[in-house]
This record gives sequence, C-alpha cells and structure tokens, in this order.
Amino acid sequence: MKQKRKGNISDMKISKNGNIFSIDNGRVSYIFSVEKDKYLMHRYFGRYINQYAGSAQPFFFDRGFCSNPDPEDKRFSLDTLPQEYPDMNQGDFRSPAYIIQTEDGCRVTRFFYKGYEIIHGKPGLEGLPSVYAEGENEAETLCITLEDECLQAQIRLYYTIFRDFDAICRHVEFINQGKQEIYMERLMSTSMDFPGTDYDLLTLSGSHTSEKNINRRAVSGDSVVIESSRGCSSPQENPCVILMDKESTEYQGQVWGFNYVYSGDFQAVVQTGQYQTVRVQMGMNPQTFGWRLGSGQKFVSPETVMVYSCSGLNGMSQTFHSLYRKRLCRGVYRDKVRPVLLNSWEAFYFDIHEEACLSLAAQAADLGVELFVVDDGWFVKRNTDRAALGDWREDREKFPGGICSLAEKIREMGMGFGIWFEPEMVSPDSDLYRAHPDWIIRSSLYDPVLSRTQYVLDLSNPEVCDFIYQSVADILEKTKASYVKWDMNRHITDLGSAYLKEKCQRELSHRYILGLYSILERLNRNFPEVLFEGCSSGGGRYDAGMLYYMPQTWASDNTDAVCRLKIQYGTSILFPAITMGSHVSDVPNHQVRRITPLSTRFAAAMSGNLGYELDLRKMSEEEKREVKEEIRFYKSIREVIQMGRFYRLKNPQRGNEAAWNFVSEDGRTVIYCYFRILSDPLSLSFPVKLKGLDPDSVYRLEENGLCYGGDELMYAGITSYPEKGDFSSHVYVFQKIK
Ligand code: GLA
Repeated sequence: MKQKRKGNISDMKISKNGNIFSIDNGRVSYIFSVEKDKYLMHRYFGRYINQYAGSAQPFFFDRGFCSNPDPEDKRFSLDTLPQEYPDMNQGDFRSPAYIIQTEDGCRVTRFFYKGYEIIHGKPGLEGLPSVYAEGENEAETLCITLEDECLQAQIRLYYTIFRDFDAICRHVEFINQGKQEIYMERLMSTSMDFPGTDYDLLTLSGSHTSEKNINRRAVSGDSVVIESSRGCSSPQENPCVILMDKESTEYQGQVWGFNYVYSGDFQAVVQTGQYQTVRVQMGMNPQTFGWRLGSGQKFVSPETVMVYSCSGLNGMSQTFHSLYRKRLCRGVYRDKVRPVLLNSWEAFYFDIHEEACLSLAAQAADLGVELFVVDDGWFVKRNTDRAALGDWREDREKFPGGICSLAEKIREMGMGFGIWFEPEMVSPDSDLYRAHPDWIIRSSLYDPVLSRTQYVLDLSNPEVCDFIYQSVADILEKTKASYVKWDMNRHITDLGSAYLKEKCQRELSHRYILGLYSILERLNRNFPEVLFEGCSSGGGRYDAGMLYYMPQTWASDNTDAVCRLKIQYGTSILFPAITMGSHVSDVPNHQVRRITPLSTRFAAAMSGNLGYELDLRKMSEEEKREVKEEIRFYKSIREVIQMGRFYRLKNPQRGNEAAWNFVSEDGRTVIYCYFRILSDPLSLSFPVKLKGLDPDSVYRLEENGLCYGGDELMYAGITSYPEKGDFSSHVYVFQKIK
C-alpha cells in the first residue's frame, strides 16, 4: 500500500470526533462510534480514510422481531447494529462477545459506554504473550471503558495501532469493582461485524503430519465455528480466521486476517446474520472456559491481531511476518540468523548413546552443522515412549561420561549443544508420577485416559510449575546448552485438578496455559542466550503465543520434502520462514516412504530454518560433499531467507508445482525456489512470475551470469527446466547489479 496521509500529521492517530472514534496509521483506518451515548457501533476497518463523515451508515428501520432498547426509537435495534463488543439479553441474538453470570444465576448484564483514554505506546498483557512496541512512538492505544452500573463492573476494550505495521491489536479486560462475584462463561477478545456477506473465508486446518492446509470457501448463510478444546492451539485448527473479498487473490484485493496470540483452547466464530452481515469473533472456547471474578479482581484476555491488506493474501502475510518477526518474537535470537542444526531423532530414535552421538556430531561438524541437538531418549530409563517422562536426569548407561561431558565435547567440535524436553508431561512409569500422583490433570472419579502412554501435568498448580522450571533450569545450567526443543505430545482429557477448588475447575484450561507461560517467561529471563524451539508432535502448537517465548517451531513431524512443500506453504500464510524449523531427512522418508533427491530435500528445508535429521554417517562420500556444499550455500543466503520478504508464487496444495521467492530486506538479493512434484511426459514448463523486485533494476543470475530486468522477471517470468524424474527442484539466486 503506497497511500500516504495528506498534510503534516504524525504517523498514527487516534481521535474522537463527535461520537466517532477513528484509529489510523495513514495506511489503514479502523472506525467506530458511540450510538445513543451507550452502544458501540462498528463502522469500518480497511484502507485509510482521510476524513470519515459517515457515508456508509447502515440503514435503520423497524424490522420484525427486533427489540428496541430505546423505546422512543423503533428503528434502532441491537440485532441490526454492527457492533464492537456485543452482549446478549438486550436483543442482539447473534453470537455474543461475552456472557457473564451474576450471583443470582441470571445472565443479564448492561454494559454501556462510559469513557475513553488514549495511551502512547502499547501496554503489555500481564502474564500473557502479546505483540509489543519498542517505545511510545511506535504505537498508540485506545482504551474504551464500558460499565455496568448495577454490577459495578467494567469492560475495557483495547485497540493498538502501529506506526510501521498495518495491524491492530485488540484485547479486553474485565474488572469487578462490585461486591458480588461474577462468573464469566464466554469471552471473546474481538468481535467485528462486516457489512454484506460477499466474502470467502480462509482457515488453516490439518492434523498431525499434515498441518496448515489452506481451506478457502464461501461465507454462506450459517455460522462456521473454528475451535480447539484440546488444551493447545492444535494442528487440527489454527486460531486464525481470514476473510477475503470474493475476488481477492494472492496479490490483489481486500483481506482481513485475525490471529489469536494464544496457545490454548480457542473459538473463532464466523456468523452470517439474518440481515446479511458477517460477524467475526475470536476468543476463549466456552466449552472449556469459565472464570470466577471476585470483588476487586481483573481478568485480562489474550489478544487478537487483526491485519488488513488491500494487496491480497500475500500483503496480509507480509504484515504478519514482519510484525511477528520484529515485535512478537523476543530475545537475542530475534535479530540473529539461526544456526544450522542436526537433530538426533530420526537418526537414533530411542537407541541413542554417547558414542553414536559423538561420531555423528563429528561428522556433522565436518559438514558445517552449527548446533547438535540430542532429542528424546537421553534421560534415565527413557528407552521407549512408555516411560520416564518427568524424570529429567541423565542416563549414565547411555551416556557413561554424563550429558555435561557430551555437551562439552560437542562444543569442542565447534558446535552448540541442544537438548529435548517434554516438560509438561509425565509417564505413569516414572519416579515423578509415583511421588506425585496428584500432580496430573484428572477428575477425582475416573481413571484418566492415556495418550502416547503419558499424562499431562497440572500446570494450574504453582508447585508443578516450579518443578518444571527447576528441572529444565538444572539441565541448562549443568550442560550450558544453547538450545532447547520444547515438546508437547498429547492433548488434554479428563479436565480436573486436585489443586483447584471445586468451583474453579472450569478455569483449568486457561490456568494451564498461564502456568506454561509463567514457566517460559522465567526461562527466557534467566536463560536469555538459549534458543528455544517449540514443538507439539510437529506443528501442533505452532501459534503466535508460543512464538513470544520461542522464536522458532518444528513445523511438522512429517519430514518428507513433498509433504513439507504443502505444510510450509500453508504455514507461511501467518508465520515467517525464520520461525519454521525444517530439516533434511533420510530416504525412504520415515513418514511416507517416499524417495526424493537430496537436492529437493534441501531446497524444501532451506526454504525455512534449515536443519538435518538423519544419520549423516550413512551417506555416501558424494552425498556428504553435496550436504557440505548445501550448508555452505545456505549460510551464504540464510539472512535473505530468514530476514527477507516472502512471496508465494505457486501453491503445491493445488497442483504439481510449488514456487516462491525471497527478497532480502535491502532488495539486493532474490532467491527463487521452484519445485515440480511429478514428472510428466510432455515436460511442460511455464514461466513463473517473480514478485517484489524493482522493475527498473537489473538482476544477475548467479549460476550463469545472465542478466535480466526486474520488469522481465516479474511480468514475463522465468521458466525452469527441471531434470527429468519426479520431485525435481531448482534454486536460483539473483543479485541486483543496478
Ligand atoms: C515428537 C516430536 C519429534 C520427536 C519426538 C520424540 O513427536 O515432534 O520431533 O522429538 O516427539 O519423542
């Protein structure tokens, strides 16, 4: 979007003009008003409007079945009003943003507009991950207060606009200043009503080993609910809803993206109303959420990031990528290129021991790997997935010299040492479980259900959180590890806590996540040099919440290059390549038995945060030479991949090809990756048009020195002539020469 604000005005502006609030940064505007001094009416979220005068008002008239909160005005009904934060019981029968039960068991409340405040910068969300601003001049926040006078309770709605990103963050606070306890049954961070229904809805759904499939369909006359009640954001549904104009494409048209910065259960609702409007909501999943708010207490909701793009889906992704990379991820690794790692899992599984690790590490170091990661199996009695989770002590049988000496030897080889944990879990066959059977999530009546032969620890209990923190911290201190892979391999059943009081059992799911965040915050604070990578059987908890604590995620347990093209393409809808752990693995592939060329496995893995996950010692000398060269090549261009802009060109979820290109932040280097999945007898090959280049510049293709204009590469495209055979690929590097 090139549109700029007219006149001499600061970069961001939040203003109130009469009853109209307007939030903008010169490229996007968000507008709502206060109606009848009480109700918030949503008016607009889209491309920047210089001076909004209300031309796009909804048409009010007396409609059948509509309740009229103002007895003098039968045209006015909340059921037809585009709202900012709708309740129930006043006549809006669409999906409410919140439901509160009062002590008398009723669920009638009346929160009305009370006032507003403008805050420079962006306040943090206590105990929760959130996008942040560095300094007050990067962002501005509007806080609207609604009040229920009878209950003496307030709702505060927060809206932050950023100077440099076309995004608005929303979250809410509930404050109980009254005497009685209130019970929150439903709580959305965001609710927004769109006029008309002429939209498509895009979501990212999937499963273990098949994460983030792009699902685009028409918004029709019903409600669509996207949710997780699994105790984590889940591989099944990502907490993200994308609304697009029907004609919008990858590079054209309007797109509105909503993403929840939260790692637990969630619900997103896309509801078509009877009067042809679409309500989008995102928040806690009422199936597993409930919260008692005592007198004087406050509840802070997670936040939703809302991105507007008028340059298609890719424009939206670019905003999410830069916002998340620069102002969601934190720590020393935020601005650092990430090390090329070797992970032991697919090389050894549970058959891991010191000698094998050292000889694999020596091989890895020789080929240029920078970080050696010991995956599952390193701790005492962990010989299968049926035992020992929770007993985070080294196994001296497998590692006679001890894990510290292994770490030291690996460092002597010039690599960092990384280690795997699954700290939220416990095996029934473990010392931890035998000592603390009451530390797991379970009901008091029934035997809890196992999954991967393990139980989930009750993170609502601070003692459990302390134990987890201490277990991980001890190993980090001892081994001086520079990397942790933090796994979570089952979903939560049997929601019950021996720690929580009876009437607070519905709080368990959210308290679990708050407990998890508190552990991670502590670890981040006390081990600032450690790189954390999130994992939940692959991309099962690949969400914005986790990225706040862990700037990268293992994108999928599926390491097959062809499957990975689809998974990584879908992941890129929200998340930048630097966050995407992707490894070159063995053939036949361990998940699908496919045999793909090493070069294609590399091209797929280098399109993210490159690693290796195979026994390099078993490769032929020729293959090792290839790996060495590929790692050298990746290091020479990884800054472009990890910090550059990403452009999707061909969608492997739709056809036989995949293609994308990266452009470095300074625009000088372009990396174009092309994949042809199955070979075809005609060898048909059509040009692919690159994106994000300067049409007036000339680019030299490094492999043969040929020069092309940016205009030619973008408008006419470039044809790849892949080798014969299935699963071929080609990586091109262009340098801008003038
Ligand atoms: C999960 C992870 C894998 C590996 C195993 C170890 O499945 O996704 O990468 O770490 O656990 O048990």
